[in-house]
Amino acid sequence: MQIFDGKTALMDYLRSVKTTDSSIGFVPTMGALHKGHQSLMKQSVQENDITVVSIFVNPTQFNNPEDLEKYPRTLDEDIIKISQINPDIIVFAPTVDDIYEGKTLSQSFDFEGLENKMEGKFRPGHFDGVGTIVKLLFEIVQPARAYFGEKDFQQVQIVKKMVEKNHLPVTIIVCPILRETNNLAMSSRNERLTLQQRNDAAIIYKTLKEAKNKFTNTSAQKTAQWVKNEFDKHRQFTLEYFEIADEDTLSTCIRKNKNKKYRAFIAVFINNVRLIDTISLN
Ligand code: PAF
Repeated sequence: MQIFDGKTALMDYLRSVKTTDSSIGFVPTMGALHKGHQSLMKQSVQENDITVVSIFVNPTQFNNPEDLEKYPRTLDEDIIKISQINPDIIVFAPTVDDIYEGKTLSQSFDFEGLENKMEGKFRPGHFDGVGTIVKLLFEIVQPARAYFGEKDFQQVQIVKKMVEKNHLPVTIIVCPILRETNNLAMSSRNERLTLQQRNDAAIIYKTLKEAKNKFTNTSAQKTAQWVKNEFDKHRQFTLEYFEIADEDTLSTCIRKNKNKKYRAFIAVFINNVRLIDTISLN
């Protein structure tokens, strides 16, 4: 397996193996790999000649130092998981210094308002950090396709906007959410839950599904109030936000428009672990 911890060595290697008609698929991750990541890698391997997976816990996208510190780091296990999918996958696991060259700062982006809602509202600076690292990684790897999970739907919209504005020659592929047997969306943060909390967290997707049903017959506001009431009944959860928004602009649904596609977004804390999920409402 080829594993690189520095961008120059990776770029030299990719230059030596890539021909003009071969394609690079790229799966950016922060490690602590789960089946959701593995499905992105499998799809990339199927659709490209070369697949690169990055493992980098990006400090500039964390607004909460405790979250950054506690983020699981499991490089050795991650490498084993990747090699089991396909030993030809190239791993890029750089250091913070290699990426940021002593200046661990975000670039400032204009995502045309996509950055001000939900995750952006509750995690100030988060999307500038995501935009910064994804742009840097795209410049290093130069992929034809990059694979992202639908769970981070707002992130996907942000990355698409960054690609569009910077005219980057990469196609963003969105892959479906993988769920645990109780329907909890797979996430590296699930590792930080006890078994009991992990079981209890089934309520997140259950509520989203019921909210989807409610939204067919009632307004976004009434649906949101119902969700809030549900979480008030489960005191171990703190609902940070529940939002019904237009899929394209992410603007809050005030009055339903049958020509628009809507999606519900949720963020919930359980014992200081922040979990997010989303469901299409159309
Ligand atoms: O979704 C993630 O894991 C991260 O936000 C990403 C895209 C790897 C950037 O650090």
